[in-house]
Amino acid sequence: MHTASFRILSVKEMEEFGVRVGKALTAGDVVVLRGELGAGKTTFARGVGLALGIHEVTSPTFVISKIYPGATPLIHVDAYRLIGSDLALFDDLDLEARIPKSITLIEWGSGFAQRLEDEPINIAIDFGETVDERIVTVEGLDL
Ligand SMILES: Nc1ncnc2c1ncn2[C@@H]1O[C@H](COP(=O)(O)OP(=O)(O)OP(=O)(O)O)[C@@H](O)[C@H]1O
Ligand SMILES: [Mg+2]
Repeated sequence: MHTASFRILSVKEMEEFGVRVGKALTAGDVVVLRGELGAGKTTFARGVGLALGIHEVTSPTFVISKIYPGATPLIHVDAYRLIGSDLALFDDLDLEARIPKSITLIEWGSGFAQRLEDEPINIAIDFGETVDERIVTVEGLDL
């Protein structure tokens, strides 16, 4: 599948890039967001939310999964605390029924996403050469 990389130079650009991706996503899409702590996954997710008219996307670290209602709901999962645990815990989130009608973003979901979607869209955020630079690689979505 098509892969493209984008150079992002600020928090604002990352949020705007999230908006761009959000506009390209449709209901049923599952996006796996990869990147180290502080790479910008939640910043990007905030932009995706804005594209859907959702203005309050914040890190779901303490609840694992948040569902924002809307014309197309946004499901935002942070699976960090599930790493290394039984995959059945992920099933307990009970997301299957909601996914076809929603856009789903999963942070730290590499180990779990296949349970929800055979061919997720993969987005990787890597640190660049300066503090604010990031390289975003998108696989499985044409922008
Ligand atoms: N170009 C950039 N894009 C995104 N964030 C940036 C950028 N430059 C600097 N930052 C900073 O990096 C941090 C990114 O935080 P964010 O919560 O989005 O990361 P995260 O990948 O979700 O982290 P975690 O794994 O802890 O959930 C913020 O403090 C932000 O200000
Ligand atoms: Mg985060």
